[in-house]
Amino acid sequence: MLADRPVSFSGVQPSGNLTIGNYLGAIKNFPEFSEKYKCFYCVVDEHAITVRQIPAELRRRTYETLALYIACGLDPEKNTLYVQSHVPAHAELAWILNCFTMFGELSRMTQFKDKSAKHADNINAGLFTYPSLMAADILLYQTDVVPIGSDQKQHVELTRDIAERFNQIFPDTFTVPEPIIPQSGARIMSLAEPEKKMSKSDENENAVVRILDDKDTMIRKFRRAVTDSGNEIRRGEDKPGINNLITIYSCFTGKTAEEVEREFDGVGYGEFKTAVGNACAEKIMPVQEEYRRLLADKGYLEEVMKKGADEAAYYARKTLSKVRRKIGFVNL
Ligand code: TYM
Repeated sequence: MLADRPVSFSGVQPSGNLTIGNYLGAIKNFPEFSEKYKCFYCVVDEHAITVRQIPAELRRRTYETLALYIACGLDPEKNTLYVQSHVPAHAELAWILNCFTMFGELSRMTQFKDKSAKHADNINAGLFTYPSLMAADILLYQTDVVPIGSDQKQHVELTRDIAERFNQIFPDTFTVPEPIIPQSGARIMSLAEPEKKMSKSDENENAVVRILDDKDTMIRKFRRAVTDSGNEIRRGEDKPGINNLITIYSCFTGKTAEEVEREFDGVGYGEFKTAVGNACAEKIMPVQEEYRRLLADKGYLEEVMKKGADEAAYYARKTLSKVRRKIGFVNL
């Protein structure tokens, strides 16, 4: 074990304005780990450049993502909050792990297939080896648990395979991590095409509710959400739109899906959609207020980044020097 407690690690890419999918599937769940785990939450800017970014926007979003972490309840005193590129050990270990990751494994990653279809003019090597960098993020801290939405499960499974392969050759190097996926909210769907995941890079603004949307916009987007032709607020296999709205309402209110169905028994789609918008706004507006306060103080955010990077580098160095020794690099 690296620290005095088990370790939780997760990351978010500063590659777009974050959505309520990122919030419900991941960030909202991070703070509860602080009591039992030593927690590292990273803004993964190195992952973000696997697709083209506008430099000024990437820089701005890096601050914004850090501010959102804190606004969503991550206390920088209790969690190590930092930016990936501030800790060079991530890139260093990623190179080493690239040499323990198979071409076939990387070729099977669904995120790689999706992103290469979407960015056909820029299928770069970084996009392909993205999962080795993610494995490095996780394995550097001897991580026990990785809280994520379900779309990242395949990457954490590959991380486990890489760790096990490495450990087989060089015993007792890495802790093999477990993904932690929430029971509800692990896959929030698009409001426009509810068979598709809600994604921060969706070009259709009506498909995504962003954490920073104002209240009216949120409610308007929910009111426009695509639903099926029925009229009952009830889950069903052929009702992806209503299923998604029930999940979102349930995540924001803490009620079970059954309770939601009972609450809206006999109520029409229109009224339900407004209620989902209101429930979302009620939880998100206080986050926005805190976010704005934090973002106004760049000096403070830089202090957090600096302290977080120093802390993270301290732990990362321990693992990296062990790895270097095991594989036969000369340590001076
Ligand atoms: P990213 O930036 O795409 O998303 C951040 C987190 O949000 C979750 N998420 C969702 N959850 C539910 N419904 C959705 N529609 C939805 N969309 C996104 C993601 O599952 C994720 O937990 N590769 C990662 C970032 C990363 C990372 C790591 C995560 C880099 N290194 C190490 C964990 C550990 C990514 O692209 O997440």
